[in-house]
Amino acid sequence: MQLLKTTALAALIGLAAAASATASDEEQLKAGKRVYMTKTCLACHGRGGAAPVLSYPMLAGQNADYIVDQMEAIRDGDRLGSVDPDTGHPFVQGMVDIMHLVTDEDIENVAVWLSEQPAAAPKPLDPEPDPELLKAGEKAFKQLGCRSCHGPDGSKPTNPKYPFISGMNPAYAIRAMTEIRDKVRTSGQAKLMWGTIKKADDDEIEAIATWLATIDRSGK
Ligand code: HEC
Ligand code: HEC
Repeated sequence: MQLLKTTALAALIGLAAAASATASDEEQLKAGKRVYMTKTCLACHGRGGAAPVLSYPMLAGQNADYIVDQMEAIRDGDRLGSVDPDTGHPFVQGMVDIMHLVTDEDIENVAVWLSEQPAAAPKPLDPEPDPELLKAGEKAFKQLGCRSCHGPDGSKPTNPKYPFISGMNPAYAIRAMTEIRDKVRTSGQAKLMWGTIKKADDDEIEAIATWLATIDRSGK
């Protein structure tokens, strides 16, 4: 009898814990969405993080840990990246300027919310890329060993701290790879990529970025 009571009690406690975990997950998602909608993220990264403007990164479905790392690096000035020749300021400057609006808790919440958003299908490239360029990109991606960290087509990172890199704006992917190769972007875990990306020349980077941009990560 005693045992039965204890078991029943344990089951009840278990149920209560499960229910409160779900409630707090939902609270966190709601809070994250609120951050995204009210703290200007939407203006640059688009609806649900899936429709970025200009050459800005896609965030929908990105790994939450990776998002947290990058937001902290951007806030702290550790990831300033390269300068946009059109404005004379780093591409990321507009985001740096709003990061004082965001608390550590906001960062956690918005990262979880973004990681749960569905990725969009890639935008058709204009002009349509040369099939030879796409083939060269796929080949270089495989030969250089990018798949060991980013997955066979860039859609399945092998560690929750690594980013997905498919279906991105090619101009963004070119910038990111070049900045990491040339040690302009040294924050976070960028150094993990140095051994690999140093073997890629500008043409290979362009080919890889173009190929990755055609890969549909929606529904994966
Ligand atoms: C004024 C435009 C702007 C605003 C506002 C903005 N961002 Fe960004 N964000 C950028 C740009 C541009 C980059 C990429 C910078 C680069 O090229 O290095 C970026 C990068 C990021 C990254 C890194 C993505 C990656 O793949 O490495 C994350 C995460 C991010 N932003 C989240 C947010 C969130 C969340 C907000 C709202 C709190 C926000 N951003 C507000 C422009 C903006
Ligand atoms: C050893 C693991 C590893 C290998 C191999 C690797 N990467 Fe990465 N890559 C990473 C990590 C980790 C990051 C995030 C760096 C950071 O924290 O800023 C990254 C970032 C990137 C980004 C920028 C993503 C963003 O949203 O800003 C691109 C693009 C990329 N890698 C492409 C490649 C390509 C192409 C190759 C092959 C030439 C490659 N990577 C090889 C681990 C790796």
